[in-house]
Amino acid sequence: MNKTPFYITTAISYVNGVPHLGHAYEIILTDVMARFKRLDNHDVYFLTGTDEHGEKVAKTAEKNGVTPKEFADKNAATFIKMTETLNISNDDFIRTTQPHHHLAAQAMWEKLHANGDIYLGKYEGWYSVREEAYFTEDELITVPETKERITPNGTEAVWVEEESYFFKLSKYTDILLKFYENNPDFIQPSTRRNEIISFVKQGLKDLSISRHKDRLSWGIPVPNDENHVMYVWLDALTNYLTGIGFPDEASETYKKYWPANYHVIGKDITRFHAIYWPAFLLAAQIETPKTIWAHGFINVHGQKMSKSIGNVLSPDGLVETYGLDQIRYFLMREIPHGQDGNFGHEQAINRINADLANGLGNLAQRTLSMIYKNCDQQIPDHGDFTESDKALLDNVYTLMLKNVRIVMNDFKVHRALEEIWRVVGDANAYIDEQAPWALRKQNPERMKTVLYVLSDVIRCLAIIIQPVVPQSAQSMLDQLKISADERDFAMISSDYAMKPGTDIDKPQGVFPRLTVEEAAA
Ligand code: MSP
Repeated sequence: MNKTPFYITTAISYVNGVPHLGHAYEIILTDVMARFKRLDNHDVYFLTGTDEHGEKVAKTAEKNGVTPKEFADKNAATFIKMTETLNISNDDFIRTTQPHHHLAAQAMWEKLHANGDIYLGKYEGWYSVREEAYFTEDELITVPETKERITPNGTEAVWVEEESYFFKLSKYTDILLKFYENNPDFIQPSTRRNEIISFVKQGLKDLSISRHKDRLSWGIPVPNDENHVMYVWLDALTNYLTGIGFPDEASETYKKYWPANYHVIGKDITRFHAIYWPAFLLAAQIETPKTIWAHGFINVHGQKMSKSIGNVLSPDGLVETYGLDQIRYFLMREIPHGQDGNFGHEQAINRINADLANGLGNLAQRTLSMIYKNCDQQIPDHGDFTESDKALLDNVYTLMLKNVRIVMNDFKVHRALEEIWRVVGDANAYIDEQAPWALRKQNPERMKTVLYVLSDVIRCLAIIIQPVVPQSAQSMLDQLKISADERDFAMISSDYAMKPGTDIDKPQGVFPRLTVEEAAA
């Protein structure tokens, strides 16, 4: 079957620090969508990576007494390790210090230049190194005690005056407004879209896109001018093209995957992705991506994560405490579509125990142990299906995937999990109602039919939960002896139903119950 290409990316992380829960959330969210599309007949390319140039990285390296490159190498390794720790299925990991990315960013510059959109001038204005962003006078706030100027996000702004190349962003104000109108899905969710449109409506100023080497040398050299390096955001945004072969626009991967389906980013960097990026691409005469998907921020026990509060959670620690699939599930289930979310210890324990240990885990464990003990360790044969059997199976074969696809098309992963867990609830209600343990003596044939129905429900559930809890789903499918080529969404159908007589192994619980003390330890 011909697969539809699907290209999805995360933001690339700054290497001035190491990964935390916010990075973990974004990459898991993206991984879930990538895995979902792969199982749903798409040819997926999933790119993630690190953003290594710029003043912020250069300054932090200096404070640590090492060169920017040494610093970037050390921290990039921790982001690469995070992809392994979190079982992320990315196809490549791009680092903006790689030579092929330098070529791509320079090719991008040349295209903007060829379009007549770059000129040399002087930048005089405010800059936040922490955000690597420019601010106008009226956007800034003055701290009453110190008179320090800070941005609306609370970072320090400094006054800068230097020779700089500019991109004619002002020229794109009306072009962008028209573009948003013609592409209503370009910025999602719609709250972010409205913010961007009202910002652009105020009129855009030309954008400084280089740094003089006297102030910063840690960057990609501007073509034909050794005195300048590129502004880190022009360099960084281009990674989405580099990752699939740009500047070789004739390459197979580039032709197949561009334009990207989704750039998944946090809400704090929407402006760069929804204004600068399409403007650069329009200027370069390159197609624009289909959707910029801006997720919310994740707080810890109701507070913003910060080093000074000491509440920064590391992906490693979370996986150690709660388990890998448990943490993936929790983040996907608890943080609603595009909104901010909260990570709380008790909230995590409750959710994990209710949905995974008691909900799905219990359903699988009860069913498989009964089959193992009472049906000669084999999937039993079944008699005629009753109305209740048919209702449950029909729900699983025809409704579940249909509903999940609808909400996943809106990137509502938490809604997809609600749909799936509705079926888990139905199956648990069915097992209680049919009480196969009571049928064992009274009506063993009927017991077999009930257990058969449940085994096929579990097979389909295990298939559909793979994107979120890949390891646990794999273990469930292994226990049911489902071969590797019978695990995609097309197999959620009676045509691929469990074969009676299949031997099963002694069932192993996949979702242990967590106790508060255990997790705290
Ligand atoms: N380097 C830029 C992105 C360049 S993309 C061409 C950057 N890096 S970052 O390391 O600061 O952030 C990486 C991603 O993590 C961003 O999408 C950001 O929004 C996200 N998050 C950082 N902290 C977060 C939370 N607390 N919660 C959720 N996501 C957060 O920005």
